[in-house]
Amino acid sequence: MLNAETLPSTARLRLGVNIDHVATLRQARGTPYPSVLEAARVCLRAGADGITVHLREDRRHIQDNDVRILRAEPGLRLNLEMAAVSEILAIALDVRPDEVCLVPERRAERTTEGGLDAAANEAVLRPIVDALRRRNVAVSLFIEPDPRQVAAAAALGAQMIELHTGRYCELPTDTRSAEVKRLVEAARQAHRLGLQVNAGHGLTVENVVGLFEVPHLHTLNIGHSIVSRAVFIGLEAAVREMMTTLRGYAGGRP
Ligand code: PXP
Repeated sequence: MLNAETLPSTARLRLGVNIDHVATLRQARGTPYPSVLEAARVCLRAGADGITVHLREDRRHIQDNDVRILRAEPGLRLNLEMAAVSEILAIALDVRPDEVCLVPERRAERTTEGGLDAAANEAVLRPIVDALRRRNVAVSLFIEPDPRQVAAAAALGAQMIELHTGRYCELPTDTRSAEVKRLVEAARQAHRLGLQVNAGHGLTVENVVGLFEVPHLHTLNIGHSIVSRAVFIGLEAAVREMMTTLRGYAGGRP
């Protein structure tokens, strides 16, 4: 029987390029270069659908002014990753990115570790989700592929989830099937609940192909591997390479 999952998908898998590590390079020396805005423009020229930045509380890479400059760029769809804290919320409510993705944040971590515990932190998250939505900012929650977290995201009124692919990426290739199954089930559940399904963390041109079994994927947010690849082939080519790889996605059907 034909249903939403068996019909051929015409949906293209979108790419949000996370350019935090362009800013990491700049902050390492305190120089005015490399320009985050120029990097964003190159990504868009290469076909990226949007730009993602994480304004961390410790400001280790992206700075407040970067977010404002990116927001002012015509035609740039901006996704701001942020911790659920009042200082960054105030900036988000002022800048009004197209989307906010709420993430957990620990100062000592090298990068975001684990998903947001939306189920346990409903009281903290609800007013933040509400405030952003009142300002017409679409809200995503970065969560583990766990049914409790997906249900909590929907109950909180988020429009999107971003499935954390970090665990999938860290597993040896031949031991990933159980994690892929969790991602498939979380994506199905989210789709049933009316949530847009995004995913990200740790993705590369090699490992992203293994995610093509996951249905309903809308956008992948990918940063570190693209910026790393850019060292050798340039940013525009690195983004194009990823875009070409994503064309293999057929909506969860092999
Ligand atoms: N999505 C979220 C929510 C993240 O926190 C990060 C890392 O900042 C990414 C995607 C991008 O991860 P990576 O840099 O490993 O591609």
